[in-house]
Amino acid sequence: VERIHGGRSPPGTIDLSVPTNPRGPPGWVLDAAARGLRRLTSYPDYQYHEAREALSRLSGARPELIVPLNGAAEALYLLALALRPERIVSVEPTFGDHRLLAQAIGARWRPIVWPPGGDPPVEEYCREASKGRALGLVSNPDNPHGGMVPPGLVEEMARCTSGVLLVDEAFIRLSDHPEWSLQARPPPGAVVAGSLTKELSVPGARAGYLVAPDPRLADMLDAVRQPWNLNSIAAEIIVEAGRDPERYEGFLAGSREMIRILRSEYEGLLSRAGLQVYPSHAPYILARGPENLHECLVRAGFYVRDASGYPGLSRGYVRFSLVPGVAERLAVAVGGCVGA
Ligand SMILES: Cc1ncc(COP(=O)(O)O)c(C=O)c1O
Repeated sequence: VERIHGGRSPPGTIDLSVPTNPRGPPGWVLDAAARGLRRLTSYPDYQYHEAREALSRLSGARPELIVPLNGAAEALYLLALALRPERIVSVEPTFGDHRLLAQAIGARWRPIVWPPGGDPPVEEYCREASKGRALGLVSNPDNPHGGMVPPGLVEEMARCTSGVLLVDEAFIRLSDHPEWSLQARPPPGAVVAGSLTKELSVPGARAGYLVAPDPRLADMLDAVRQPWNLNSIAAEIIVEAGRDPERYEGFLAGSREMIRILRSEYEGLLSRAGLQVYPSHAPYILARGPENLHECLVRAGFYVRDASGYPGLSRGYVRFSLVPGVAERLAVAVGGCVGA
């Protein structure tokens, strides 16, 4: 089975394939991780009381609606197990192995394409998601293209879904519209996922959560997670983050500022080098160039995410994560690949 994700950069290349917070983890996160490490010899509290309280303070959602996750990525699998959908309707291109999951559980997979730079395909989504027992999925912002869906449209999508719509907000608090988050109060029919993994740039720690719209669904999803799905390091990071929500918000606000600056620098250099650059509200950029762009950039020392395998995209599409301090070298490398 081939699962393709970022982060497997060949030795000697600069890794631009993992979208996360370019600011990197603050010191208090590393201190919390060290405390978690010292707890490795005992099981964490499998009900995660403290972590739920912390996530409640960070998201604004009631603790009984929150399920802690081994990264936001776990949300889809818990929903599939709890709801046993007949169809998975995913707005694409987006993160996740939806085709494989649908195959494994005997569900139909209906990808609905949201073209980079275009409007969210709400009507097409609703046509498919209103049939059968559907598990819908939309990422807000989308990854890889960084488009966003205004909350009114997300609500419309949740209303038309015959089962449940998963709104993946892994990047929303690093985006241009953190205020569009529905975590504090998910509308009926929507489960919202969030990621401290992304916000704090600790992908190895796996720290996420979901918020259900009602306690019954939250309990159902909680019942199908394995008892210790959050390891003690991730749990400690979450508890520490929730200790001081103002510190957390300050860190995110500074991160968003850094992302805006880096993104506009990247957009300028990529378009000057001759790539087609799509408008992004997120900490990454989708661009299109010659068919061999990915291979050429790897040879030039930059491992970007080959986006050609996503539904709706094709060869020549690549995604750039925003890494500070490499813009000049990247401009030379892209220029070489486009001119070649
Ligand atoms: C939209 C989206 N959701 C979730 C994830 C994974 O998040 P986590 O590491 O918290 O599982 C990714 C990773 O790239 C992503 O792009």
